[in-house]
Amino acid sequence: MQIINTINELRSALEKQTSVAFVPTMGNLHAGHIQLVEVAKRHAQCVVVSIFVNPLQFGVNEDLASYPRTLDADCKKLEAAGTSIVFAPKVEEMYPDFDGGNLNQTMTITPPPIANELCGASRPGHFSGVATVVMKLFNIVQPTVAVFGKKDFQQLFIIEQL
Ligand code: PAF
Repeated sequence: MQIINTINELRSALEKQTSVAFVPTMGNLHAGHIQLVEVAKRHAQCVVVSIFVNPLQFGVNEDLASYPRTLDADCKKLEAAGTSIVFAPKVEEMYPDFDGGNLNQTMTITPPPIANELCGASRPGHFSGVATVVMKLFNIVQPTVAVFGKKDFQQLFIIEQL
């Protein structure tokens, strides 16, 4: 299993792959994530899992700073599950205008109005942040298939629209 931190390195690693299954995550992996890897393996020989705690989907009063970051333990689980590549970029790799404090990401995806209901009603901007990072990740990985859990059903619905 390769652990890759930059977009350039990932693109080189994927150059010769004809099909890629992609599982985006924010790390702190549990059995549900590993099941997603199992599903991904049925669709392609090369399975890429991203681990990126996306600041753009956290509100001002949410738990970005204390969100668990367990990269080493996550990589062990992913290796045992048969993952080909872990993509674990830094914030500045995903948001090049990040200045150490602000992301300065002015271009974002605006999801459909469902994003402002249910969970979105109390988390303004959350699903825009999710859609924006998922779009970026799709552009970077260019997967044949992507696998998402159904637990976050509103997220799944919005990503299907994306
Ligand atoms: O469900 C998650 O873990 C995140 O919202 C996702 C899809 C990886 C985007 O950051």
